[in-house]
Amino acid sequence: MRILLFCFGTYLLIFSLSSFAQSRSGQGTAKELYLEFCSTCHGKSLEGGLGSSLNDGSFKFGASDAEIATNIAKGIAEGGMPGWEKQLDENQIRSLVILIREEEKLALKAASKAELKLDSPISTQHHNFKLEVHGETEGLMWGLDFLPDGAIVATERAGRLWLFKDGKKIGPIANTPKVLAQWQGGLLDVRVHPDYEKNRWIYLSFSEKSEQGSMTTIVRGRIRDGNWVDEQSIFRVPQEMHVGTGHHYGSRIEFVDEYMYFSVGDRGQRHHPQDLSQPAGKIHRLYHDGRIPKDNPFVNTEGAYPSIWSYGHRNPQGMDIHPETKKVWAAEHGPRGGDEVNLIEKANNYGWPLATYGMNYDGTAITNVREKPGFVSPKIYWTPSISPGGIQFYEGKQFPRWKNSLLVGGMGSTEMHRLEFKGDEVVSDEILFSGLGRIRDIAVDSKGYIWILLNTRDPESGKLVRLIPIKSH
Ligand code: HEC
Repeated sequence: MRILLFCFGTYLLIFSLSSFAQSRSGQGTAKELYLEFCSTCHGKSLEGGLGSSLNDGSFKFGASDAEIATNIAKGIAEGGMPGWEKQLDENQIRSLVILIREEEKLALKAASKAELKLDSPISTQHHNFKLEVHGETEGLMWGLDFLPDGAIVATERAGRLWLFKDGKKIGPIANTPKVLAQWQGGLLDVRVHPDYEKNRWIYLSFSEKSEQGSMTTIVRGRIRDGNWVDEQSIFRVPQEMHVGTGHHYGSRIEFVDEYMYFSVGDRGQRHHPQDLSQPAGKIHRLYHDGRIPKDNPFVNTEGAYPSIWSYGHRNPQGMDIHPETKKVWAAEHGPRGGDEVNLIEKANNYGWPLATYGMNYDGTAITNVREKPGFVSPKIYWTPSISPGGIQFYEGKQFPRWKNSLLVGGMGSTEMHRLEFKGDEVVSDEILFSGLGRIRDIAVDSKGYIWILLNTRDPESGKLVRLIPIKSH
């Protein structure tokens, strides 16, 4: 609980800076609206009174977001619930729905007493497993990948690159790029080139500082005798495009065939995701050496940033390729509510900030538009937010019944989710476990074991952890 509150505090701090300019037009936050219009009947903490409890997870009159919104707008005459559509606009009603969802989840969490420990066996729908810690860092860990010899390369956000091999922690590797380790920035993703055996390339993404501010940068290089050498620049935007904020760098990297895809968050600039001249708020596509493919969608659009593949993104920090369809999937942070998993396709607009299932961190509305023709809707969204980190499709021998499931790591929620699909549609969302730490990245090794990076923030630390299947008991 302390961890949760602590992160939330940090988020509030960061976002109060960026949302300062947003108009509140005397509308009040969701909490203020609730206290003013609803608490007399539903209780100060949504626990119920004259009206029913709104945080116990049960809704007699319809439990979907849309039904709850309609009940608030129209009222429930026979039950004595007044309609609010004359006093409250659609945006305000939407923000109340999000507040109800958040409070419901907090109450359910408080009620579930069983506290999980790192060495507790975990049972889930299809597989039981335990966790095994293989390494630790002093600061938060961000990304990991595997070398062909079984070693793991992993980043520590403070700016250190490590190798973990045969139970030993090697490093930090010397002469890695200088990063801006501040706010959400630092040394972020690490990816091993698919042809590493031949070329030894390792890719790093990080926040790079300049006089104008900072921005997501990608380089590749090699590790030789404990040193980072042969560095080449792969994605480095002109300094005029750097901005002064310290959040939303995106940064996840994936390879498919001769291409690489990577995400750049909106950098806290809400006008950038819909502006094709800006690299922020986009998923980009390049050849492995940084050249721009001629069939990228906006190479012939005047003024457009030529590496853009899709736009309208907020802060995608999870990305993976489906093992069979080879399609690109990404998870992005919504604001308060509205975290998304999207199927990423050429030239698509994913809607941020013109369409979202979330609201501002201070509880004011952003928009009432959640879906709209022209914007591609998420395949699943979470309100309240789980704050998705890395995502990973499962393929391998250790957890056969999870084949092609998408594992999603939650940071704020500390939940590990498993999404099942029918075709490209999500048909179920199972929470495998929660409460062990913020899950920043997930990867599967060649033997089919699942590896995760677990962080705690109070005090800061990172853990490299492996999931091992155990027989049912
Ligand atoms: C005058 C008292 C009163 C006020 C004020 C009031 N409600 Fe209600 N509300 C009720 C009653 C009574 C019910 C029906 C409860 C029942 O029959 O179980 C209800 C039902 C609801 C339901 C449906 C619950 C379910 O089980 O499906 C929602 C959602 C709801 N209220 C939200 C709100 C919100 C949001 C506000 C403030 C904008 C609000 N209410 C203000 C009395 C009130």
